[in-house]
Amino acid sequence: MKIAVLPGDGIGPEIVAQAVKVLEALRADGAKIEMETAPIGGAGYDAAGDPLPDATLRLARSADAVLLGAVGGPQYDTLDRPLRPERGLLRIRKELNLFANLRPALLYPELAGASSLKPDVVSGLDLMIVRELTGDVYFGQPRGIELRNGERVGYNTMLYSESEVRRVAHVAFGIAMKRGKKLCSVEKANVLECSELWKEVMIEVARDYPEVALSHMYVDNAAMQLIRAPKQFDTIVTGNIFGDILSDAASMLSGSIGMLPSASLDEHNKGMYEPIHGSAPDIAGKNLANPLATILSVAMMYRYTFADAATAERIENAVKRVIARGLRTGDIWTEGTQKVSCSEMGDAVVKAL
Ligand code: IPM
Ligand code: MG
Repeated sequence: MKIAVLPGDGIGPEIVAQAVKVLEALRADGAKIEMETAPIGGAGYDAAGDPLPDATLRLARSADAVLLGAVGGPQYDTLDRPLRPERGLLRIRKELNLFANLRPALLYPELAGASSLKPDVVSGLDLMIVRELTGDVYFGQPRGIELRNGERVGYNTMLYSESEVRRVAHVAFGIAMKRGKKLCSVEKANVLECSELWKEVMIEVARDYPEVALSHMYVDNAAMQLIRAPKQFDTIVTGNIFGDILSDAASMLSGSIGMLPSASLDEHNKGMYEPIHGSAPDIAGKNLANPLATILSVAMMYRYTFADAATAERIENAVKRVIARGLRTGDIWTEGTQKVSCSEMGDAVVKAL
């Protein structure tokens, strides 16, 4: 298996280095994996004048899976829009057709105190958000900023085709089948035609999955319910922008955004794996970041692309063990636990593995 390693910007290189240690440990144990590194985001711009250099895209296409750190940084915010780091991320998702983004939110019992919600609201939480990743207002045309009647207007287009909704629906129903057989489709069908179509297609696809209980929720209510009573959800499926927002909210249920991995899959389960958090420029280069979301992204790589659930569980259990031992990076540290650096956390996971 060939893995394209794209560390990116900010804390990206530090956290990816820890995940690479885990992969190297697995290789030392006999796993047949090959890794090759390339720049993306601001690092791509610095190296080749492009947030997604051709060579990086070629490597990603030729790989079985992509491991990504994070992109972005204040030094790139004034670049022309197509040159900004975020554009590199959006383009690689689109170019590789990674339309199904899986964002689990799981609470480790020992971290209940790190969540800003009451422990009884979040303890036992195990939720999966399936976010559509290559459509919606992120990519819809037309888009732009232009002069109309003597003033500037900015506009984007929220757009989904039936086939785009149908394929992500099938992924979400498939995942719900393997979990609690409850799927909640989140949209804004009381206002948006785009959501009306989304909901109709969800109901059509549901006929193929009679065992799954499909429900529907408006996104504003879903935001509230996620904070009020998150354990009512098993699997959520939603569009690109709603999923972007709801997955950040859901991350806080699990104590820290530094804990949550993600998988972005195409229809053949080729995937890109990345933590859901960003590049955290404020702590970059200080060996303070939490590498667990990136390490858990490697576990997802084993589960979804390599179809090796045993190794995925082995990595997840190693993470559970270091948490149970009381090791914490700053973002999940609470009184009475042991504060460790990013690289110490990585070493501890390798040892537990
Ligand atoms: C995410 C991020 C990206 C997104 C940004 C960096 C473009 O917020 O992966 O959730 O909006 O999709
Ligand atoms: Mg986001």
